[in-house]
Amino acid sequence: MKSILVMNGPNLNMLGQREPALYGHSTLADVEQLCRDTGDKHGIAVECFQSNHEGELIDALHRAGRAVKEGKMIGVVFNAGAYTHTSIAIYDAIKAAEVPVIEVHISNVHARESFRHHSYLSPVAEGIIVGFGVEGYALAIDGLVAKLGSQ
Ligand code: DQA
Repeated sequence: MKSILVMNGPNLNMLGQREPALYGHSTLADVEQLCRDTGDKHGIAVECFQSNHEGELIDALHRAGRAVKEGKMIGVVFNAGAYTHTSIAIYDAIKAAEVPVIEVHISNVHARESFRHHSYLSPVAEGIIVGFGVEGYALAIDGLVAKLGSQ
């Protein structure tokens, strides 16, 4: 059974308590369960990882790239939080690891502050899901499986 890594970056461990008007009331544990359930629907194992630290996210992307090359993993569903808008290092890691990434944002970043309008990840993403609330993670898994699941 192939896998998908669902990865969440900084402050997403605070889901449920953090600005619920923007991000909703689901916790990270709820989101991870939604992702595992969505994986089950496709016969895909879903691994989950959250970190507030850029280097740990980069290490996980490198590991995921190796797993993809070994035929064990399809790719990564990744909400990089604010690193989306700042991290050339994460952009470089996605390219270096040659790992397929679906970029996810719970909120519609384009309807928010202008500093959220630019993403370093979008140019190296296989696809982007923005503004569907936490349901976006399930859409991203569906999309990743539809696009790359048969490879
Ligand atoms: C976010 C949007 C980012 O701008 C923000 O820094 C986050 C969450 C989202 O899911 O909507 O931490 O990625």
